[in-house]
Amino acid sequence: MSVERLNLSVSSISAEAKDVLLIGLRAGDGQPLPAYTAGAHLELVLPNGLIRHYSLCGDPDDRQTYLIGVGLAADTRGGSRLLHGAIKVGDRLRAAAPRNNFAMSADAASHHFIAGGIGITPIMAMIRHCEKTGQPWTLDYLVRSRQRAAFLEDLAPFGDRVVVHSSADLGRRGEIAAMVARAGDAGTLYCCGPAALMEAVEQATSGFAPDRVRFEWFSAKETADHGPGDGFTVILAKSGRTIAVPAGRTLLEALEDAGIDAPYACREGICGSCEVAVLEGIPDHRDQVLTAAEQASNQTIITCCSRARSAELVLDL
Ligand code: FES
Repeated sequence: MSVERLNLSVSSISAEAKDVLLIGLRAGDGQPLPAYTAGAHLELVLPNGLIRHYSLCGDPDDRQTYLIGVGLAADTRGGSRLLHGAIKVGDRLRAAAPRNNFAMSADAASHHFIAGGIGITPIMAMIRHCEKTGQPWTLDYLVRSRQRAAFLEDLAPFGDRVVVHSSADLGRRGEIAAMVARAGDAGTLYCCGPAALMEAVEQATSGFAPDRVRFEWFSAKETADHGPGDGFTVILAKSGRTIAVPAGRTLLEALEDAGIDAPYACREGICGSCEVAVLEGIPDHRDQVLTAAEQASNQTIITCCSRARSAELVLDL
């Protein structure tokens, strides 16, 4: 699987809210950037080698600048602190071309967004797209405080289409049910935010048709099952090699152990970088990337966390 690599240059840095930076990135050679659709994210390689994923929050039609919003995470694993403290205009960063695991529905009657904190970033791109194309939308935006809430100025003109909730409401089941109800009977619901919010919305939408609700995970679900499971065998169709995946090793690790140069980034089942086509066999999907319909089709597997229901899988590798 080849992914287009980009050399980017930091073109702007501004404070969007308390502990939230808005960072502009342009192509290092000044050429137009690869196109993306609303909901996409960018995989950035930070100067210390860390790989991090940031949703694009600008105008998807702008091919000159990618905009990302970076919150300073309290439990930062190094990425947000580095971007908040050590990045300056003119710095060069490597990236992979944008990828969208959170695409908008093409035929929804309306779009209802639920954003928690920095989870507003992909949703801002979706709102910009809705405004350009005249599609109806509404937003419930859960924030710890207005001071820390990004894009409030951009959202102010939209009146009661936007409901901002303070942290006191965050995670209350009654409030979540009311937010979910705003999607109506024919709208598509999109949610991005902390795992606790996402899991509450997931529970509240369990009766929705799978294609009517979409999630973008920034971190692995607290309830995600990435456990070892049983061993199984993979056959690599291109080379004809057979590789055993023992209990206690992920499929990705088994591929790496065998010297296969398999793609990956997050290793948590949330970015989609390690997706591989399945030619035969039935995966045991444990990721948070593929939609319910994609998982049911069994056409691909997320190798960093998913396993096999069948004794063998044949992969397009
Ligand atoms: S490496 Fe990110 S989903 Fe597998």
